[in-house]
Amino acid sequence: MNRRRRIYEGKAKVLYEGPEPGTLIQHFKDDATAFNNKKHALIDGKGVLNNRISEYVFMRLGEIGVPTHFVKRLNMREQLIREVEIIPLEVVVRNVAAGSLSTRLGLDEGAQLPRSIIEFYYKSDKLNDPMVSEEHITAFGWATPQEIDEVMSLALRINDFLVGLFLGIGIRLVDFKVEFGRLYEQNDQMRIVLADEISPDCCRLWDVVSGDKLDKDRFRRDLGGVLEAYTEVARRLGVLTENPRPKGSGPVLVSTNGQKPE
Ligand code: TMP
Repeated sequence: MNRRRRIYEGKAKVLYEGPEPGTLIQHFKDDATAFNNKKHALIDGKGVLNNRISEYVFMRLGEIGVPTHFVKRLNMREQLIREVEIIPLEVVVRNVAAGSLSTRLGLDEGAQLPRSIIEFYYKSDKLNDPMVSEEHITAFGWATPQEIDEVMSLALRINDFLVGLFLGIGIRLVDFKVEFGRLYEQNDQMRIVLADEISPDCCRLWDVVSGDKLDKDRFRRDLGGVLEAYTEVARRLGVLTENPRPKGSGPVLVSTNGQKPE
């Protein structure tokens, strides 16, 4: 029986009280939802894959100096994280037109954007996460202008790094969503850190050669093969448990000459 105190339950994750003050346990569920919970399914094993993929991405980002809430992975579905005060914004970075941007502005999906674009959405299931501007964010006190600057600069650094990381394994990072939190340190200092997760649940990942979608759009758009796509991302990153790779061996190089990687 799990007797830990549950702090928060979201659509795809649960947060439990951590072993020490200032820590939490982030548990990845198999639930997949879309369109603000109107569509729901259990995808057996998705949580395990997202836990691994997010661990890998957060660790790599930590190595290049992006502060994150991640401490360590605890088991197949859980990781130890620092407790932060979540800034109530979904920060979306886009490199290629797709999804709601294509719909809103009438852009063909797949069109390269003139430059990377950052958008903010207010985190509210009740309101369906409406898009908001910096004016709304500062007027309603969700974040200060300095915090917005910090969030935008972190989001662009994350994007630059991840575009390269994914390209190295034959994947185009079309867009993604991240969340940030305020980490209060012992000396009363506050730092903005990357929180939540980075996984195929919150990214658009397209195979460079075939254009195949390797992300949650397979679920949103009823394309099938959701678990297979997430497994492929994990495999290329070299984080599949069935196929343990030597420590520090980095991502798997994927052939881009049209042949299926081994
Ligand atoms: P969108 O095109 O539907 O606005 O999505 C942009 C990116 O943000 C895409 O990679 C999916 C991700 N996303 C989430 O992670 N959660 C959400 O609730 C939404 C709407 C999008």
